[in-house]
Amino acid sequence: MGNVIIVGTQWGDEGKGKIVDYLTEKADVVARYQGGHNAGHTVVIGKEQFILHLIPSGILHKDKLCLIGNGVVIAPDALIEEIDGLLDIGLEVGDNLKISKNAHVIMPYHIALDNQKEAAKGKKKIGTTGRGIGPAYVDKMARAGIKMVDLLWPDVFREKLESNLGEINTIMTKLYNAPVFEINELFDKCMEYKERLSDFIDDTDIIINDRLKRGDNILFEGAQGTLLDIDHGTYPYVTSSNATAGGAMTGMGVGPTMIDSVLGIAKAYTTRVGGGPFPSELNDETGEKIREKGGEYGATTGRPRRCGWLDLVVLRHSVRINGLTGLVITKLDVLDGFDKLMVCTGYKYGDTVLNDFPKELSILDSCTPVLEEFNGWSEKTKGVKSFKELPENAKLYVGMIEERLDVPIHIISTGQDRDDTIIVKDVF
Ligand code: GDP
Ligand code: IMO
Ligand code: MG
Repeated sequence: MGNVIIVGTQWGDEGKGKIVDYLTEKADVVARYQGGHNAGHTVVIGKEQFILHLIPSGILHKDKLCLIGNGVVIAPDALIEEIDGLLDIGLEVGDNLKISKNAHVIMPYHIALDNQKEAAKGKKKIGTTGRGIGPAYVDKMARAGIKMVDLLWPDVFREKLESNLGEINTIMTKLYNAPVFEINELFDKCMEYKERLSDFIDDTDIIINDRLKRGDNILFEGAQGTLLDIDHGTYPYVTSSNATAGGAMTGMGVGPTMIDSVLGIAKAYTTRVGGGPFPSELNDETGEKIREKGGEYGATTGRPRRCGWLDLVVLRHSVRINGLTGLVITKLDVLDGFDKLMVCTGYKYGDTVLNDFPKELSILDSCTPVLEEFNGWSEKTKGVKSFKELPENAKLYVGMIEERLDVPIHIISTGQDRDDTIIVKDVF
């Protein structure tokens, strides 16, 4: 038993939602620690598909406590829509969901700023999800943010809103020639949100530490991935939070001594959505084939995901930054039927081969992947129930990842459904 951080090892969409849902059975609490409704976590149970953006993927299980931590930025309307969507299909969303008082609010002006800034960047745009994530975290760091707890204190809320709108509206008119935000309208809307959300707003730091003391098993659900982390990703082509394991500590208010393991989720290949470097990207028929077979279209924005071979340079970086104790390989089934598989083992830059992920965008832009060839397999992996029943070459492929990264593989996923999961080694 123990407390486990689930973290994306690539550029997001590794299948974190599926794995969190799967592991929730053995957990008592599921805690989301960063990001916002830029995330899209898909869970498939039988014929039903759920896409969660802000609410932990554990919500689909009865009697599990779900927490949204202080590290998350929350668009109240998006959260209400998500809650309503779950209630509509008969799921319970009440005392089983608590939202941190200290989580910051994404205001409509953050969304407007996100889109204006992107438009102004032209070709150099980041390709954000347009959800206001960056500007909301900017305000948090600039000490101008509005927190969920402020919604509960209308006078405080109004004062903060008023002081922010002065600057925001100047930017809107003078810089972007865009419409201004009207204080009464915004205030009234937010008070409506408060009516819906106030019962959920709580001291999640106290709740989670009480649960830890009690000996509960806690799953920390990361959003995005290591290469999208604000400090350790392909900056500036990243999101604005710490998607890596460290973010779980600050994003929930939990000490590092409480964590037993860090499980990295990795697709059997690589994808990325939005702009920025991607050394093992395939801009050809093979990339297209992976996209179609893997259904690689964004769960939040529907954008086609860029696809490429598995990149061990990326994964080595993730192992290091997150202190991974274990790995989960997802979407192995998508590679069924490939005659040959390539794996990026290093980056060729001039006359040298880099084994570590470079910090310089200029190097990333001009390096080429060093590819090693592996034999594929023709058999179906979906439906296989144990590691030893996998096709021989699939075993060799997965074994190679474990050996090269020197991190044990705990789970292999071979399909969207809960059932398409092979346990190699116990997680808890
Ligand atoms: P997340 O953001 O990390 O939770 O991942 P997403 O939900 O955005 O994207 C992963 C997609 O792959 C979803 O549509 C999942 O249902 C799907 N998926 C997860 N694991 C597997 C798998 O092993 N095989 C296949 N074919 N699909 C999977
Ligand atoms: P999950 O949790 C994949 C990407 C965006 C863009 C960059 C910045 O589902 O894995 P933002 O809106 O955060 O300012 O956009 O980050 N991005 C994601 N890519 N999966 C995600 O979340 C992502 N969340 C943000 O596409 O490139
Ligand atoms: Mg996703």
